[in-house]
Formats: sequence, C-alpha cells, structure tokens
Amino acid sequence: MSKTVVIAFANNKGGSGKTTTCSNVGCAMAQDGKKVLMIDGDMQMNLTIAYFDEEKALELAQNGKTIHTVVKEEKDISDFIVSTGIEGLDIVTSSSLMSSIEFDLFSKWQREVILKRCLERVRARGYYDYILIDAPPTLGGWVMNIMCASDYVIIPVEASPWGLFGLANMFDFCDQVKRISPSLEVLGIAITKADERKKYFKQTLETLKELEDVKVFENYIRVDSAIEWAQDSSRPVVDFKKNSRSAIEYIQLTKEIMENVDRKERN
Ligand SMILES: Nc1ncnc2c1ncn2[C@@H]1O[C@H](COP(=O)(O)OP(=O)(O)OP(=O)(O)O)[C@@H](O)[C@H]1O
Ligand SMILES: [Mg+2]
Repeated sequence: MSKTVVIAFANNKGGSGKTTTCSNVGCAMAQDGKKVLMIDGDMQMNLTIAYFDEEKALELAQNGKTIHTVVKEEKDISDFIVSTGIEGLDIVTSSSLMSSIEFDLFSKWQREVILKRCLERVRARGYYDYILIDAPPTLGGWVMNIMCASDYVIIPVEASPWGLFGLANMFDFCDQVKRISPSLEVLGIAITKADERKKYFKQTLETLKELEDVKVFENYIRVDSAIEWAQDSSRPVVDFKKNSRSAIEYIQLTKEIMENVDRKERN
C-alpha cells in the first residue's frame, strides 16, 4: 500500500489558474495510471463544472453530496466521492453553501484540522495515489483547513503585472499554516497564462526565479484558447484536446510535479 499524497492548489490572487491547473494535473495523473481524488473547495464550483454540466452539479448539491456537508457535519469523505467518468479520477464536488463555510467552522473544536480529520480514513486506505484540493482565492480558516490537510501546496501564478501582487501574503500564510502543520511544504510555483511574446513575461519569470527557497516549475502553461473550449464542454483540456499546446504543457508539468513529489517522499 502506497502513501496517498495530498496537494493543495492555492493562491489568494483570483483567476491565477488554480482550478484549471488542479483539473488538468488531476486528469493527466489519471491518464498516467494513477488513482486520483480531486476536492472542489470553492463556492464558485469551478472544479465541479469542469467535469459536470450545471444540472448534474445542482443535483449533487441538492442531495448534499458535497464538501460542504463533509465539513459542516464532520463526515468521513468516502461517502461523498463521485466518479468524473474518467478512469482513475474521482471528485468531491462543491456547492454555493460553501459561502458560509467560515461561519460553519467558527464554533468547531480544533477548527483548523476538520478537513484533515475528514480525510483520515481515505488516506489510511491508501487507494488513492494523490488527493488534489482546489482552494478558493481567500486566506482564512477554510484555506487554513485545506493546507493543514495537505502535504504540499502548489501556487499557480498568472504571468501578468497583477499576478505577483499578494504573493508575499501567500508565503506569510504558508508560514502560519506551518505553525499548526509543520510538515506542509511549498512544492513550487506553477506559471500559468504565459505569453512569451510579451517582454513582461520574461520579467515575471526572472522575478519569480529570484525568490529564495521556492521552486518555480520549469514547465509553464502558455495562454491557449483550447483551455476555454475544453471548459465549455466540461472537460479538462488534457482529455478534450490531447494534442493542443496547453494539454502537452499540462502533461509535462504533471510529470515534473510527480517527479518532485517522488524525490521528496524518498528523502
Ligand atoms: N492557459 C490558459 N489560457 C487561457 N485561458 C486560461 C488559461 N488558464 C486559465 N485560463 C482562464 O483563466 C480564467 C481563470 O482560471 P481559473 O479559474 O483556473 O483560475 P482560479 O485561480 O481558479 O480562479 P479563482 O481564484 O476565481 O478560483 C478562467 O476563465 C480560465 O478559463
Ligand atoms: Mg478557482
């Protein structure tokens, strides 16, 4: 039985590519034969609708089969897992009720580690190679929960002038999480929506590479409209259009992520 590795995709900057990266890395891992569980931690439900149409997403929400019920009622997450329809790739969906999650967590005992407890049985079973959690663009008690439940965090950063804004807050937040969960590690920064024709992109890349103690993944994701066409069809681009530029880039990034995890887990 192998260890289940939990990775959070987090950045308080909105629109930085967290959901797109989580969705495509999850699917690329499954295509590589891994067993993967994704968790949609955002009330916007973008990871949910990356795999299901609105009708199915609302049906799951109405039946309470969402991360909101798991956390609010402190349930074992196993009973809330549904298949994405892609082999080896499962998901726990979200609902708009996640808008009240900070309030729901507030009165709980040891409220930073509720999600970690909800994941305990699934992790102990060791069926999944990876659990990937898509975080909302906030830094509060719920994202603290997501990071305390994770072994690693990947920070997707948009290669734009505002993309780097707030990154310092993100690192400060990681330090706060480490006080409760010292084993959490920043696996790296994944650059998204890169446009190599722009001079600004090169400057962003240089600025990020100058950061101490933080890895920037070599494989970055360029702007590609195939991502939006795939999302319009409720499928990740690595499944929807396997030979598109972004699909190839996401597959390469996924390999790099898995190699880095393997190296760290061996140490
Ligand atoms: N490489 C790309 N090329 C073109 N569009 C992209 C690319 N990556 C992401 N997008 C688009 O950018 C938008 C934001 O991406 P995404 O939803 O993944 O970011 P996010 O960080 O999860 O946002 P939020 O903070 O709202 O949760 C989406 O509309 C998505 O389709
Ligand atoms: Mg998102």
